[in-house]
Amino acid sequence: MKKYFTTPIYYVNDVPHIGHAYCTLATDTLVRYWRKKLGRENVFFLTGTDENSQKTVDAARKKGESIAEYLEEMAANWRQSWEAIGIDFDDFIRTTEQRHVKMVQQIFHTIYDRGDIYKDKYTGLYCTGCETFLKASDLDENGNCPDHKTPPQKLQEENYFFRLSKYSEPLLKLYEENPSFLQPETRRKEITNFIRSGLEDVSISRETAEFGIPLPIDESHKVYVWFDALINYISGVPGGADGDFWKESVHIIGKDITRFHCVIWPAMLLSAGIKPAKEVFAHGFFTVDGQKMSKSLGNVVSPVELAAQYGNDALRAGLLGSFEFGHDGDFSLENFKGFYRMRLAGGVGNLFHRVITLIHKFLDGEKPKSEDQTAEMQKQLQEFGQLFEAGKIKGAIDYYFSIVDSANEILNKEEPWKLAKTDIEAAKKVFAILLQKLEVLAEMSQVILPETAPKMKKILGDEKKVGIPEILFEQKNTRKA
Ligand code: MSP
Repeated sequence: MKKYFTTPIYYVNDVPHIGHAYCTLATDTLVRYWRKKLGRENVFFLTGTDENSQKTVDAARKKGESIAEYLEEMAANWRQSWEAIGIDFDDFIRTTEQRHVKMVQQIFHTIYDRGDIYKDKYTGLYCTGCETFLKASDLDENGNCPDHKTPPQKLQEENYFFRLSKYSEPLLKLYEENPSFLQPETRRKEITNFIRSGLEDVSISRETAEFGIPLPIDESHKVYVWFDALINYISGVPGGADGDFWKESVHIIGKDITRFHCVIWPAMLLSAGIKPAKEVFAHGFFTVDGQKMSKSLGNVVSPVELAAQYGNDALRAGLLGSFEFGHDGDFSLENFKGFYRMRLAGGVGNLFHRVITLIHKFLDGEKPKSEDQTAEMQKQLQEFGQLFEAGKIKGAIDYYFSIVDSANEILNKEEPWKLAKTDIEAAKKVFAILLQKLEVLAEMSQVILPETAPKMKKILGDEKKVGIPEILFEQKNTRKA
């Protein structure tokens, strides 16, 4: 079996914030689960940057740089940011790369040959922030884009259109036949209702765009950035649309871009004679301390800075553990610090340290013989896996910490350091149970705390002896001043 995971490709007009990191970390964590289950060679993970956008032109201009210079710098920034926070992607695609440009032109041509692209005049309101046309009814009371709070541009130009309206029925059939095509259920309902309400054709070229991929049928137009961007999922997959990975594709996206991924993209593929993605998972949006992240509010959190301070595993588990994948939520630095202090340093870190130190002290580091608990361990690993396969990342993280808590409870209740002085055999039994819990945790950590997992394995030693205790999570001064 194979699996192919993608994140959205991100706009490069700014550096990554924790909203982007949330999506990328969630995907990376799912990827790690599947790599462990299926073997690394059977899972492919693609991320990248969406570059052919007016935002690129505006941002480069603002910085006084050429587009090419700006793109080099920003694509490198995104790539390095992901590497810095421990994202282990297999490939990083940039939409200005030739492999992508060629694929966009090829797919465009196939759709054109099908008769699904035609030229027409268009007048509409365009928001560059969203890179999309808005209807008058979408605007807020000031006539601005409700997301960007800026007035849309009035565009009047000749555009090429994609016959999206032709695909309502085929799309509904796709949804009916593939219950997992879009998850969670709330998004599925929202999108199928949207399709049922009737689809309009969409403009897929820009006559006035300063930057982008030229249409293969008319060089004076550029391909609309979304039509271009979605195709990255095919340009970046080994074997292309005919390969084994594409058949098992899973797009992880934020709910804001569901229509593009679950209406336009599958329709484009149906038109091009390519099977749509197997699954799309749309996660929720989160606020920071109850407010939308924004530069003007000054509450934009950098994942790179947070990870530099607390470690990559803390960022991963802290973010993904804040609210259930698929739901909306909130991130607060106070809660994050509490999570670090209580769950990581005081919870799992302290547990490993105490148990191993005690085994050194009372058993000379020798591992006690234990009753076979393989069945129990297998059961726990299985439950952990089931949570992942059901898209419950927070559920899996909570499950992990429930094992940490149960081990800490055993330790505090049985007090093996006292028991060892009166009944060493009874103490050995307690240590054996605790060691097995640590083994399970080390195993699960490969997925949710991947940088700590090898340290845990080292501490757990070999068949006969435990290793040297090590501090896994330094206590930090995280208390409120
Ligand atoms: N370039 C397009 C995607 C093209 S995919 C073919 C785009 N890029 S983006 O840079 O704006 O990133 C969007 C994604 O970032 C969202 O879909 C979501 O996954 C993530 N998030 C951005 N802000 C977020 C939050 N506040 N909360 C959760 N996720 C957030 O759209």
